[in-house]
Amino acid sequence: MILVTGGTGYIGSHTVVQLIEAGHDVVIIDNLSNSKLDVLDKIQEITGVRPLFYHIDLLNMDDVERVFNQNEIKAVIHFAGFKAVGESVQIPMAYYQNNITGTLNLCMIMDKYKCKNIVFSSSATVYGLNNISPLTEDLPLSATNPYGQTKLMIENILKDIYVSDDEWSISLLRYFNPIGAHHSSLLGENPRGIPNNLVPYIAQVAEGSLEKLKVFGDDYDTIDGTGVRDYIHVEDLARGHILALNYVFKHKGVEAINLGTGNGSSVLEVIKAYEKECGKAIPYEIVARRAGDVDICFANPQKAKDLLKWEATKTLDEMCRDSWNFMVTTRKS
Ligand code: NAD
Ligand code: UD1
Repeated sequence: MILVTGGTGYIGSHTVVQLIEAGHDVVIIDNLSNSKLDVLDKIQEITGVRPLFYHIDLLNMDDVERVFNQNEIKAVIHFAGFKAVGESVQIPMAYYQNNITGTLNLCMIMDKYKCKNIVFSSSATVYGLNNISPLTEDLPLSATNPYGQTKLMIENILKDIYVSDDEWSISLLRYFNPIGAHHSSLLGENPRGIPNNLVPYIAQVAEGSLEKLKVFGDDYDTIDGTGVRDYIHVEDLARGHILALNYVFKHKGVEAINLGTGNGSSVLEVIKAYEKECGKAIPYEIVARRAGDVDICFANPQKAKDLLKWEATKTLDEMCRDSWNFMVTTRKS
């Protein structure tokens, strides 16, 4: 049995689908703070299997223990956490409590039940502002906001756990910019309120619920002056987790691994690709830079290729198409 925390969330749900398709038994823990129960129906519709679900909070250790007591868990893929950078600056204590305490609770119960295999959702945010792309895993790490701090701290906590007990097997997956949706259009990203991230914002402009996109700066030292990022299809990202799981089953230790395509796209390139897929113009205006943004951020994905035999395969056009199809399907339902 594989435990997926945050398994009804955006990346978690796509990963659960692929775990089931790969023949794993899956149990999900989620407190539904940022996802909905009907995701389970969609997972069942895609795979024919309804994963076991516990509506519990990682902050409640007794509840977490109950899941380990009732199931024979061999490994954990740990997605559960808060993830909005801006919000983390407003309510840092909630972020530290949820992300750090939640992870500590989980690890303590894992240790008690001798389940020592974990794949953790880290982020390219741990590379901070000063490293030059392509980013490799051995670069110095830093964080510029409470959300990023939690990712960095959890990476360090997990490294310390391994130092204390070399039976642990830990994969720290550093995601670049996950976008897109399941090719069935049944699963995708549906942020509450006004989106902070580029592609969910563009999707809502295309759909008509937002008037126009604000492009944060056109004076960066990039191909067209706008920020460059490594966008990765969420299904490619999910596949990385299945391979990371296979890896932790075979190798003890701690490995930080980038999951990115190795290619950067500018904001204007993303707008153009989205316009092609949705068949409409995306109105936009250039505004000032957003504080804390870097000009260019993309991965060197060689380590994932070497260790996991993983490579991203989907193009920016496919990412935009799946994002748009999901938007159209969700709007209809
Ligand atoms: P998401 O919000 O869609 O999924 C996270 C899930 O965890 C949600 O379903 C939420 O209800 C649940 N959750 C949160 N706190 C919980 C708790 N205390 N107990 C139980 N459940 C809890 O986010 P996502 O985009 O799928 O991201 C998954 C992970 O990947 C997060 O840790 C995030 O920080 C990390 N990550 C995401 C991105 C991205 O751009 N989406 C990039 C880098 C890293
Ligand atoms: C975001 C997170 C970061 C996380 C990363 C990967 C923020 C501030 N940072 O970074 O912690 O590791 O995702 O998931 O949320 N843009 C606009 N207009 C918009 C929104 C964005 O022009 O309305 C631009 C940005 O300036 C940037 C690019 O689009 O150049 C991508 O932005 P975004 O989707 O927010 O991702 P990141 O900033 O890379």
